[in-house]
Amino acid sequence: MRKILVTSALPYANGPIHIGHLVEYIQTDIWVRAQRLRGNRCVYICADDTHGTAIMIRANKEGITPEKLIADVREQHLASFTGMDIQFDNYGSTNASESYETCCEIWSALRKAGLVHEKKVSQLFDTQVGTFLADRFVKGTCPKCGAEDQYGDSCDKCGATYSPADLKNPVSALSGTTPEMREAEHLMVEIERLRPFLTEWTQNGGHLQPEIANYLAGHFLGDELRDWDISRPAPYFGFEIPDSPGNYWYVWFDAPIGYIGSTRVWCKRENEDWERWWKDPETEIHHFIGKDITYFHTLFWPAMLKTAGFNLPEKVHIHGMLTTNGEKMSKSKGTFIKADTYLKYLDPAYLRYYFASKLTNRVDDVDLNFADIREKVNSDLVGKLVNLASRTAKFVKELGTSSVYPEDSGLFEFGASQAEEIAQAYEECDFAKVTRLVMAIGDRANKFVEDSAPWALRKDPARQQELQDVCSIALNLYRQMVIYLSPILPKLAAQSAALLNENAESWTINDVKVPLCGTKVNEFSHLMNRMDEKAIDAMIEETREENKPEESQNEEVKSQWEDSAQPLEDEPLEEVCTIDDFCKVDLRVARIIMAEEVPEARKLLHLTLSLGGDVTKNVFAGIKSAYKPEDLVGRLVVCVANLQPRQMKFGLSEGMVCAAGPGGKDIFLLSPDSGAQPGQRIH
Ligand code: MSP
Ligand code: ZN
Repeated sequence: MRKILVTSALPYANGPIHIGHLVEYIQTDIWVRAQRLRGNRCVYICADDTHGTAIMIRANKEGITPEKLIADVREQHLASFTGMDIQFDNYGSTNASESYETCCEIWSALRKAGLVHEKKVSQLFDTQVGTFLADRFVKGTCPKCGAEDQYGDSCDKCGATYSPADLKNPVSALSGTTPEMREAEHLMVEIERLRPFLTEWTQNGGHLQPEIANYLAGHFLGDELRDWDISRPAPYFGFEIPDSPGNYWYVWFDAPIGYIGSTRVWCKRENEDWERWWKDPETEIHHFIGKDITYFHTLFWPAMLKTAGFNLPEKVHIHGMLTTNGEKMSKSKGTFIKADTYLKYLDPAYLRYYFASKLTNRVDDVDLNFADIREKVNSDLVGKLVNLASRTAKFVKELGTSSVYPEDSGLFEFGASQAEEIAQAYEECDFAKVTRLVMAIGDRANKFVEDSAPWALRKDPARQQELQDVCSIALNLYRQMVIYLSPILPKLAAQSAALLNENAESWTINDVKVPLCGTKVNEFSHLMNRMDEKAIDAMIEETREENKPEESQNEEVKSQWEDSAQPLEDEPLEEVCTIDDFCKVDLRVARIIMAEEVPEARKLLHLTLSLGGDVTKNVFAGIKSAYKPEDLVGRLVVCVANLQPRQMKFGLSEGMVCAAGPGGKDIFLLSPDSGAQPGQRIH
């Protein structure tokens, strides 16, 4: 039996858990449950990451103490995790005394090793707010490539990393003012001296995925490593450095130490010796993180652990970022979905299964496609899995399973033979492979049920033994699938175990090898619904509502513009036209005075436009998919008034109304600002 300590990255306490985070917490939770299913001892540790400028600023804004803020956020985070069936052994806080003690221990080890020295550092200071600005709170022009609106530490466009002092035209994100450069004494860690160790640890021993090892070798380890600036001057929300009053540990120093702090809290509760978990090589430590925080977990963190004589991670498992429908999650598109919003509309099993079906041991980004998730859930979970039980369990409610496992031409044996490969796929975080292997069992099982037609057998009193045998086989194959999937679908596993008169908590992976015979089958109760498109739409709509920009929030408004900008490449500009060419098109302000559906035409609305006085025009416009007639009457539009009239099936069309957008629901009529009068020409 292995002894394994597992962590997920500690979410920042300055915002809610969203579906991007969930990639990681679901991935880790599945891995932990799979270890337990295989009989290993596995402890899952996490905590809130509570320190840093962002939390201090947000607390200030809300007029509460940072302590109150982090206590509130903790409750929200825990509710989201519980709702998603993510189960930690301990969920701590980096602001705990157990964390502080370990910070002190590691700090004094760094001091003792002679790795810490002082250095004057120039940092941008927001004079209006009265604070030094963390990298993420400065925006400006990239010093390498000139891209605008980049953060203080790195450029989105060219990937360059730099110090905020190098940023051109810096602006404080807190106040919008131009920050000034100020000097302060900082404490620096000479991580360069650990380069030989880090090279060895990152490149050998299989602690990292190959693409990560290569990335580190190519980007960092080939050159001298820059000193790590580990302190921040007051004001800062964090731990004050004991031997450097007025200075605080930078949040990324105490954040990973939170893994240890949270373990210590768990140990106190469970009467365990925490050093057996962090200093005894018997324990395997596994970290799960996203690729955006690779640097901290694969260079600084091992350097700190090594220096202080702690266990090094056995593995750092790194996943890619979540995209939705192939794009970055977007607030205005309603795809920046909070866990809580998701849970209002949808079953956590859907997302757990879908992410599992997409996750491999590679670092590729993961896409959540809303058509795809529905298809996957409905065809795999409902069609192949749950259906197996719902079509058979009810027929053997009185009979139970057959007393001897019937002849099934190798179906059960095939299912059982997958155990080692499935266990290995879980170990390697190749959950996509797990779902494929399990669904292959499902395909065979469903074909068997179709062919045996228990619903027909049921009607024939002479074939009741056969009926019991068919259902016993189907339920035993169902049980194999559910045991295999229990790390991904813990709720379904518990319900299914109850149906089969068992307890899912005590299942091990070897239970797939022994069929249930002569056992009771309990009343079948509904297991899972098909995924409903309407629920997805409602969830997206609610997310969009939550994120409606307020007038004053310029930043939000701007990001909304960026989100919906149509790149010109999609529809290149027409060739140049002269002013004379343009003047040939007579555009007029018009008022819609009548609008009605054209029943025979799928896309058209019939409009009557007033161009002032009693000049009217009859227009058939292809805007039915986006506008209701009753919403149009009375509004102003822009009309091409001298367009050659065209005879259509339904009547004469004498002009055109101007609109933007690709079509479908995305049609946007142009309207003049209020004050314009029908008939006025547009120049
Ligand atoms: N507080 C730090 C981690 C400290 S660990 C000692 C942090 N917090 S975070 O809230 O921003 O992110 C927590 C984890 O969620 C990170 O591993 C991050 O990669 C992951 N994700 C956050 N947004 C994500 C996506 N959109 N997609 C996938 N994972 C994402 O970083
Ligand atoms: Zn750049």
